[in-house]
Amino acid sequence: MKTTTTRAFPCVGLLTVGALLLTACGSSDGGGSGQAAGAGTFEGRGPITFVAGKDTTGAIQPMLDRWNKLHPKEKVTFIQLPTDADAQRQQMIQNAETKSDAYTVLSLDVVWTSEFAAHQWIDRLPEQRFPLDKMLKPVVETARYRDGLYAVPASSDGGMLYYRTDLLKKAGITKPPTTWAELKADCAKVKKLPEAQGMSCYAGQFQKYEGLTVNFAEAVNSAGGVITDANGKPDVDTAQAREGLDFLVDSVKDGTIPKEGITYLEEDGRQAFQSGKLVFHRNWPYVYSLAGKSDIKGKYSVAPLPGLNGPGSSSLGGHNLALSSFAKNKATALDFMKFFSSEENTATFLKEASLAPPYASLYDDKALVEQYPYLPVLKESILRAVPRPRVVQYGDVTSAVQREAYAALTGSKSIAQALKDLQEALQKSTGQ
Ligand code: GLC
Repeated sequence: MKTTTTRAFPCVGLLTVGALLLTACGSSDGGGSGQAAGAGTFEGRGPITFVAGKDTTGAIQPMLDRWNKLHPKEKVTFIQLPTDADAQRQQMIQNAETKSDAYTVLSLDVVWTSEFAAHQWIDRLPEQRFPLDKMLKPVVETARYRDGLYAVPASSDGGMLYYRTDLLKKAGITKPPTTWAELKADCAKVKKLPEAQGMSCYAGQFQKYEGLTVNFAEAVNSAGGVITDANGKPDVDTAQAREGLDFLVDSVKDGTIPKEGITYLEEDGRQAFQSGKLVFHRNWPYVYSLAGKSDIKGKYSVAPLPGLNGPGSSSLGGHNLALSSFAKNKATALDFMKFFSSEENTATFLKEASLAPPYASLYDDKALVEQYPYLPVLKESILRAVPRPRVVQYGDVTSAVQREAYAALTGSKSIAQALKDLQEALQKSTGQ
C-alpha cells in the first residue's frame, strides 16, 4: 500500500529553512501549478466521473441524480473506492501516474492537497468561481498549496466523543468526561451497571491506516504535543507526545480499548457503538445521523474530545473537490464542483447525513441547530482543530506515524523508542 518512499518529486525542491517550494514546474493543460498568474482555461463539456471513498451515508448518489437530471448531456458517474483512506489515495495516485482520464473530479482528503498539487496531478482552480469567503477559514486553507487554490471544500470533519447518555445517567454521571482520567473513571462506574455487562469502554480508529494517524495526532495534540511544529519541523520526541501515546498504549493494556479495537476503521467502531458494545467512541460527525437510525437511537450524544488536563483537540479532517489534470470535459467538471460544494447542497448533506459543511453560517442556523444541537461545538472544534502535517511527502509521513504508533500499541516497541524512531523517520522524509 504505502509505497511512496522512493518516488521522485519532479517539481519539488527543498529549502534549508524547511519551506517547500516548487522549482522548475512547467504548466499543465488547464492550469498547472507552475502558473503563477492563476488558473488556466477549463474546456470541454460532456460526461464526467466523481471519485470518492465508498459512500457510507447514502447521500451522494441522490445528489448526483439531481445533477444528472439537470444536465442530461453532462452526466456524472459515481466511482466508489474503498472506505480506507490510504487505499483511496493509492488508487487516485495510480490513476494520475498513468495519466488516465478515467477520474474527473476527485474527493480529496484534506491532507493530500500539497502532494497532489506539487505533482501536478490536480489543476489549480479559479478562486473567484467559488464563495470561499463564506467558508470557515481553516477549511479553505486545507484546499490551498503555496499561493494557489487546488480544491474546493465540500465537507469538513472534526473528531467528537460519542457517549451513551442513558448509561452515564444511570451511573449518576451528569456530564461527559473532559479528561482521559475522567473517561476511565466514568467507564468504570458505568460498567458496574447490569445493563453494561460485557461492554467495552472506548474505541477510535487504531488499525494501521490514516485513521491511526488521526487518532495518534489527536492524542499527542490533546496532551500539548505536536507532530511537526509551526514551521513544519518534526518535533514528536517530547514528553508531551509521550503522555499522548501513553494514553493510547495504556488504554490497550488496561482494557479500556478492547483487543478488537486495534482492528477498527471508522465503520467498525460505528457498528460496535451502535450495537451497544461501547460506552465511548471517537468518530466523525457522519456517525450522528446513522446512529439515530440504529438500536441506540435517543441514547447517545456527542462532546468535545477529552484530553490530558482538559478538553482535547481534534485533527482537522474532511474532503475537498479537486480536478484531475488528466481529465476531459473540464468545463462541465468545474460547474459540477460548484454545484456539489454549494451552500444548498452541503446543507442537504448536513440534514440528511450529518456531514460537517464548510459554510460558517450553517453552524448558527436555528433550525439546523435544533436538529443537530452539537453544531456550535463542532464549529469550535473545526476552528480549533490541528491540521495534520501539511507536506508534499504526506504519504511517507503518514506511513511512518502509522508504523511507529502501531508498534507501540501492539507492544512490539516501547513508547520512547517508537517516538524516537518516528522523529528520525520524519526528519528524513521532510528533510528537516
Ligand atoms: C475522515 C476524514 C479524513 C481522514 C479520514 C481518516 O474521512 O475526513 O480527513 O483522513 O477520516 O480515516
